[in-house]
Amino acid sequence: MPDLAAAPAPDLFDLPQAADPSPRAVALLAPVPGLAEDLAADLVREARPGYADPPPPFYASPDGRLRLYQADALELLRRMQGESVDMVFADPPYFLSNGGITCVGGRRVRVDKGDWDKSQGIIGDHNFNLLWLDQCRRILRPDGTLWVTGTSHNIHSVGYGLQVLGYKILNDIAWYKVNPPPNLACRYFTHATETILWAAKSAKSRHTFHYPLMKEQNGGKQMQSLWSIMPPGKSEKRHGKHPTQKPEALLLRIVAASTSPDELVLDPFCGSATTGVACARLGRRFIGIEREQEFLTLAMNRLAEEVQQVTLVFVFAGGTAKAGGNPGQERGRVEATTWNEIVSYALKTLGGEANLKEINRVVEKNPRTQLNPTWPSTVRRVLRQSTAISAVGRGRYRLWPN
Ligand SMILES: C[S@@+](CC[C@H](N)C(=O)[O-])C[C@H]1O[C@@H](n2cnc3c(N)ncnc32)[C@H](O)[C@@H]1O
Repeated sequence: MPDLAAAPAPDLFDLPQAADPSPRAVALLAPVPGLAEDLAADLVREARPGYADPPPPFYASPDGRLRLYQADALELLRRMQGESVDMVFADPPYFLSNGGITCVGGRRVRVDKGDWDKSQGIIGDHNFNLLWLDQCRRILRPDGTLWVTGTSHNIHSVGYGLQVLGYKILNDIAWYKVNPPPNLACRYFTHATETILWAAKSAKSRHTFHYPLMKEQNGGKQMQSLWSIMPPGKSEKRHGKHPTQKPEALLLRIVAASTSPDELVLDPFCGSATTGVACARLGRRFIGIEREQEFLTLAMNRLAEEVQQVTLVFVFAGGTAKAGGNPGQERGRVEATTWNEIVSYALKTLGGEANLKEINRVVEKNPRTQLNPTWPSTVRRVLRQSTAISAVGRGRYRLWPN
């Protein structure tokens, strides 16, 4: 079980004055034709005093490990302490909502994800990318890594920005969307992939990569950089829709591969907080930044569902449980905050290995899970997705590594 006391809630937005862009980024910013003043000067002027008070979160889980902030990412990143974050996942504006046509549910519609996705021109978009990438590099720990998603609209600017700012690119993942909408113009190939760049803070970083876990999740073979993952289905949108929501499976893989339990993950453009959902399930801490209230409410509802603040009392239920005892006798208690913790703890009380029936027998004794109508699918999902649990054949599961 993670020791919650050892992982205090992060209060990282307490720089006495907002951090300026690095001299390297300032030198790279291009003047935007038609604008009287350049972006760097604007940003430096915005660095006003009074930043010492951390801004209140829009939402914080009861233990403070998952937090959402309503803010402009560039502004809030500049208030964050340097070297404070283990991993950044960013799904930034791709700047593709510019009047093109696409197909949604068989209908022709204009591509319009929202004002946040409208281009400010090639130079303006590139300056924006340089500035947020620069701040993310400042707040990453020396061995930290950053993931950025994109299409041709933004990914070349991001890739160039990563190189000139001093990141080291580790991989370019091709995410194959399996069932993409058809191309209505019939003058291009169907767009079926997105690129995800993974970069370390610098060439000196000793980055985290859980190679054995990825290999295990890929049926015992080295995991490659081509990932076939379906876009999010209805069940992932049960709290509402975000126009560019990422699939949970994608974020579960990214978070599991590149971070360890209790580490801090930041998503500066968090939308519906798919990254936060993955962090909750995998026992990582999370900070999400988002500008729009509508998306923050959706994100909050998704995170709140993941978080359970309950005390579970595990009792011996008889039957085949390995660790003996008398039926009804208490075996242990756990202050559980995630379903992942609940299932892991149940496995622990069963001697580290058990089948679904045995796990259910100890967990279902608890009123909180008796009241949860989705418990049967929840427990199956946790057994499938948890990085701490592996299937060991004949329907049995083991805490991993044990
Ligand atoms: C591509 S979406 C992220 C979707 C997210 N990965 C998910 O799974 O729901 C980008 C999000 O960034 C937000 N956004 C755009 N510009 C922003 C800015 N400057 N600061 C904070 N949020 C911003 C948008 O409102 C949008 O929700």
